[in-house]
Amino acid sequence: MPGPLSGLSVKLIATITLVILAVEVAIYLPSAGNYRQSWLNDRLRIGIVAARVLDTVPDVMNLPAMLTDNLLNSAGAIAIVYRRSGQSQLIELNDITMPREAVTIDMRQTDYATLIMGALDTLTHGGDRTLRILGVPDSDDEDAQVEVLMDERPLHDDLVAYSWNIVLVSLLVATLTAIVLYLLVSQLLIAPIRRLTENLVAYRINPENATLIISPTGRRDEIGIVENELAAMETDIFSMLRQRRHLADLGLAVAKINHDLRNTLTSAQMLSDQVVALDDPKIQRLAPRLLHSIDKAVAFAQSVLDYGRQSGTPPKPVPVDLRVLIDESAIDAGLRSNPDIGYLNEVPDDIAIRVDPEQMARVLVNLMKNAREALETADQPGELRVTASFTDSPDGYIISIADNGPGLPPRARENLFVAFEGSAKAGGTGLGLAIARELVAAHGGTLSYIPLEPGARFDILMPAASRVG
Ligand SMILES: Nc1ncnc2c1ncn2[C@@H]1O[C@H](COP(=O)(O)OP(=O)(O)OP(=O)(O)O)[C@@H](O)[C@H]1O
Ligand SMILES: [Mg+2]
Repeated sequence: MPGPLSGLSVKLIATITLVILAVEVAIYLPSAGNYRQSWLNDRLRIGIVAARVLDTVPDVMNLPAMLTDNLLNSAGAIAIVYRRSGQSQLIELNDITMPREAVTIDMRQTDYATLIMGALDTLTHGGDRTLRILGVPDSDDEDAQVEVLMDERPLHDDLVAYSWNIVLVSLLVATLTAIVLYLLVSQLLIAPIRRLTENLVAYRINPENATLIISPTGRRDEIGIVENELAAMETDIFSMLRQRRHLADLGLAVAKINHDLRNTLTSAQMLSDQVVALDDPKIQRLAPRLLHSIDKAVAFAQSVLDYGRQSGTPPKPVPVDLRVLIDESAIDAGLRSNPDIGYLNEVPDDIAIRVDPEQMARVLVNLMKNAREALETADQPGELRVTASFTDSPDGYIISIADNGPGLPPRARENLFVAFEGSAKAGGTGLGLAIARELVAAHGGTLSYIPLEPGARFDILMPAASRVG
């Protein structure tokens, strides 16, 4: 099972939380912009009201300082400038602070980009500047303009407090949503997936234990389908394994019987050798046939033994010169010393491949022996010939063994590559092609039969990766 930090549930919670936080940020920026805008608007409104009130006073300059200071303090402003056609009026605090860096905010610009940039600007500057808020009073005078000067500090602090609130609320919402979704999803998905995973792991360790086969819960969704398929698959594997064990037991018994049979036959073979030496003409007439039959029986018992013993050792590929390998196999297949059958190796002598030399030689010997045997029984005119050739193909490369003999008889064609079934000749066990195909497949290749006019060809298609250079 995955560790506490690498499981599906952790990934799920992390993803949900991240998505929610990303959404919150996307919402936060414009809302912070709006918050700042309405905060500034409030101050501007107060400024406008103050300016209007002062406008009605004939001589502002002579108003008591306390009155204007109170008015400005209630608007949180340092100074207010009121401009209308041709004239402007300024009131300011008496003990005005040191002039500082000023930033102008035009309240007539209300697009989101400006609002967001403004909020970020306020947050990133520590609130030590002077704000110049520009706005228009809703009066008939089109040129009228109010300008409120104030400290940025209160705006900055309020915006920071607002942001913290949003952060806290976002975290709360994200956590709550993640918990709720997690509970839901773990009920719906993670618990069943865990069950499937645990079952898979346990069953793989002990596939012969039928109680470990999963019992489907009857759900109708995709997980239900997985459960059903898994149950079916595990049942199949269970019965296949049991069958395989039985077959293996039977095979072992057959191998033992066969072993004894071969030993008995070998004794009989030695006895018959002595019988042949006797002078009796009757014996002389019968003995060769007896010997031949016993030889065949011994060979049969031997090849069955070999097939059983043939372990499933995977090939150990090494670089091999293909032309040389084919020539050596031809010797073992009894082709090169054969006076009646021509042998032609058309493989170029610079082809190197990575294969298990013993296994590949066995494949080639089996194919060439079949070709030789077919040609030996053929009574056809013209030159008899076995040809080995090499061709490149889009899927890799092909090694072909072709002959111009009679081709495969129907019985052999029907049971092509089936062990013990494919033989259509006296004394054949029907193992040669089955073994060859198995060995080629273990190398990642395929063996196929191509009928020729006249003759037969077997193509070994090998993956390009096994080519050296
Ligand atoms: N080149 C070929 N030409 C004609 N027939 C062939 C050729 N190769 C195989 N066959 C036929 O296919 C049959 C199966 O061949 P396979 O090599 O599997 O078994 P076998 O040769 O009969 O026995 P074994 O090889 O085990 O001694 C052969 O009996 C033969 O009839
Ligand atoms: Mg054969």
